Amino acid sequence: MKIAFSKPSLPAQGAVVVAVAEGGLLSATAQSLDAETKGSLGRAIAASRFEGKKGQSLTLLAPAGLAASRVLLVGIGKPKDFDAQAAQAFGGNAAAALLCSGETDAAIVVDAFPAQPLSAAEVAAQAAFGARLRSYRFDKYRTKEKKDEKPSLKRLTLLVEPLAEAKSSFARLDKLAEAIDFTRDLVSEPANIIHPESLAAQAETLAELGVEVEILGEKQMRKLGMGALLGVGQGSERESKLVVMRWQGAEDAKAAPVAFVGKGVTFDSGGISIKPAGGMEDMKWDMAGSATVIGTIRALAARKAKVNAVGVVGLVENMPSGTAQRPGDVVTSMSGQTIEVINTDAEGRLVLADALWYTQDRFKPKFMVDLATLTGAIIISLGHEYAGLFSGDDRLADRLAAAGKAVGEPLWRLPLGDAYDKQIKSDIADMKNVGGREGGSITAAQFLKRFTNDVPWAHLDIAGTAWSKKDTATCPKGATAFGVRLLDRLVADHYEDKGSK
Ligand code: BES
Ligand code: MN
Ligand code: ZN
Repeated sequence: MKIAFSKPSLPAQGAVVVAVAEGGLLSATAQSLDAETKGSLGRAIAASRFEGKKGQSLTLLAPAGLAASRVLLVGIGKPKDFDAQAAQAFGGNAAAALLCSGETDAAIVVDAFPAQPLSAAEVAAQAAFGARLRSYRFDKYRTKEKKDEKPSLKRLTLLVEPLAEAKSSFARLDKLAEAIDFTRDLVSEPANIIHPESLAAQAETLAELGVEVEILGEKQMRKLGMGALLGVGQGSERESKLVVMRWQGAEDAKAAPVAFVGKGVTFDSGGISIKPAGGMEDMKWDMAGSATVIGTIRALAARKAKVNAVGVVGLVENMPSGTAQRPGDVVTSMSGQTIEVINTDAEGRLVLADALWYTQDRFKPKFMVDLATLTGAIIISLGHEYAGLFSGDDRLADRLAAAGKAVGEPLWRLPLGDAYDKQIKSDIADMKNVGGREGGSITAAQFLKRFTNDVPWAHLDIAGTAWSKKDTATCPKGATAFGVRLLDRLVADHYEDKGSK
């Protein structure tokens, strides 16, 4: 679908989209459409349950008196609450109603409501961003889809003034959307296509944007002593990889970087502690943390963010085999700490242990944020609405939570503490990799904390938010890329050189 911007003038064909606020309050354009159709909009609203609430929409087909083939009314809720996220939802809901409607052309008319906090140009840019995100489709493996099963919508035009402002605002969001789609593609790919080597190759494409990319193989990791990460991959035919991405955008090349670390288990069978068959296919997306880190670095590079940023992702496949690690094995991590592997399915923390230690050791970053589909327990705690946030650093935690709130990727902070840490004491090694069922997401975070060397650190458990089983306003069901917008915002709000943005 192509997105364009144009000056307001009613289209001679296709769909016209107008906003309606709560209480059936018509936008200026909607009022004139209502007049031209002899009151059809008002009558349609009266005949239906449409009230202009957020998420509601109503279609009028073949309206008499208009050249357009349909008018789509999209509810926006209260004008005073029509912020960036609501404007994205407006665009996303419009796209959802039109994508497979049979229309090829649609125009969204953006005119401001009194008391609306955003300018019309900003609403248009955000609505276009939302529409673009909602139109994402992972369809490369569908070879038999008939034309009438595919989306029909080809062009979406935002009618708005001032035009230049809307266009330049969207250009920035469009780049972010590219990074989000890139992450969604990586997460959606099955594990026979995306494995450590091919995922590393995808990360390597960031070099085109000026990102330095290094790929470490097993030999190099063995030299570094990464026994925790290597133990997870040792049952797989595929070689484990560690990918380091560096974006140097700050004026001072030596300025300490911000660091993002991702869990990249390209398939998590559980290993010898094998998972049950039902739902195991979901574990193709156990690399979502790494895809989010790759997408974030891509977003920062694409907009030439004035920051030094590192992304480190540990890529492994967790498989059972004759060479796989066994429950009870003891491995030595790069930090020197030893780990008793009680359960080979608690593998993400083993991968991150070495990735985190490596990151702080080599880069001495301002902070590290890791992202991981780490525990099923976080889904029991928070469902699919919030990701879990763990941190001993209040300032970093507050900044992350605020960024998440601002972009609609909310975080909920859970505690850390010595009492939880005791749960991972081992009888024969420095620690064990599981702490029992109680507080399972917290003991996983306590485990990670032991590999941060007291560098400011936060852990985001995205097991409940990386993949959605239902459509939302700005995301079709499937990979969400949760975290890309959030981290991009965190950097923009706090860690870029002054005078940028
Ligand atoms: N990748 C899983 C966590 C997960 C579960 C992500 C469901 C998404 C959906 C992780 O590696 C895992 O298997 N965790 C175990 C830990 C347990 C063995 C302590 C879990 O959560 O059951
Ligand atoms: Mn697992
Ligand atoms: Zn896993």
